[in-house]
Amino acid sequence: MIEKIRNKFEELFGGGGDIRAYFAPGRVNLIGEHTDYNGGHVFPYALSMGNYAVARVRDDKKIRWFNMTYPENGVQEREIDGLMPNDNGLWYDYQLGVIWAFQQNGYKVTRGYDMVMAADMPAGAGLSASASIEELAAVILKDLLSIDISMVDCALMGQYSENKYNGMNCGIMDQFASAMGKKDHAIFLNTDRLEYSYVPLNLKAEKIVITNSLVKHSLAGSAYNERRRQCEEALSDLQKNLDIKTLGDLDEEAFEEHKALIKDPVCLKRARHAVYENQRAIAAVEELKSGNIEEFGRLMKESHVSLRDDYEVSCRELDILAEEAWKLPGVIGSRMTGGGFGGCTVSIVEDREVEAFKEKLSHAYSEKTGLTPEFYIADAADGARRLELQMSPQ
Ligand code: GLA
Repeated sequence: MIEKIRNKFEELFGGGGDIRAYFAPGRVNLIGEHTDYNGGHVFPYALSMGNYAVARVRDDKKIRWFNMTYPENGVQEREIDGLMPNDNGLWYDYQLGVIWAFQQNGYKVTRGYDMVMAADMPAGAGLSASASIEELAAVILKDLLSIDISMVDCALMGQYSENKYNGMNCGIMDQFASAMGKKDHAIFLNTDRLEYSYVPLNLKAEKIVITNSLVKHSLAGSAYNERRRQCEEALSDLQKNLDIKTLGDLDEEAFEEHKALIKDPVCLKRARHAVYENQRAIAAVEELKSGNIEEFGRLMKESHVSLRDDYEVSCRELDILAEEAWKLPGVIGSRMTGGGFGGCTVSIVEDREVEAFKEKLSHAYSEKTGLTPEFYIADAADGARRLELQMSPQ
């Protein structure tokens, strides 16, 4: 992959000089969905799929890029000063947003660069291709321009830019997973305090399988921001009587005791998901640590049901994938993953059943939707980083 990108780079921008290579992964979330803007816990990991770049610093403040995924766009360029937030949602707005976020937060972006990039992950599939582009930009700025910034702050810059440059009010999970991923580990992150620990994913006889529904419903962005607002309304109702900072401060008992404070029934359902899902994520990680994978799988199923019924961010296609998966032999757990309204499910499946799982799920899904899903075996990999130019990251 890197060699192909480098060849393209030399063809377009010439050889010579200090040419460097970078990679930033997508992510999958095992449990703790829609909790990251509610002060709760998440449990994602970085994938081995993502976005790659080959880049070389320039002497001026121009950035030029070519994306091998969209060759029809040719080489594009911008001045790095004077960038303006917009909600066009084009892939390169996610990289420009990060340059802007660095500038807004006092990091000196003194020079531009030439870059060719390519992806080996699907975009718009709920695996955070956008966070991967953001963290790719962040790690390029950090390394190529010798900017003194930690990887946690790179994640925060990605979130800042997505919130303020691209107009998407996301939490920190995706950028954190892409920036901070660790091979063979998932990240148990407290999104309120940004405290985290790495939990080994040493599944003995199971694989984690991602199933791409291949649908993306258009209401994803607006519905996401609406869910945030509903959770904030529920929180402010609760705060009239309770001294809490986020919904993540409540456990199930406290929620049941005080839920009558939430006036709007829809906001109550949203808050119930946020509270229970956070507690599920905490419990699930404990179960995994004690080797109780069956219980982890059961909590994944509960998570899906709550996202479907209380949070209402699933959709027909994701429900078919999860519900059909639950019926299959060797399936420990299965749920939608990511923001919802399309995208992927994540399933834990016994090794010996993986092939049959793919075949049977594909068949059931095609019968009901006319679509053939894609499958990825999803190992946990390292986060955004510079690569040896001649080597692939795996
Ligand atoms: C999207 C957002 C994340 C998170 C998930 C839902 O991926 O970018 O911040 O809120 O949805 O868990």
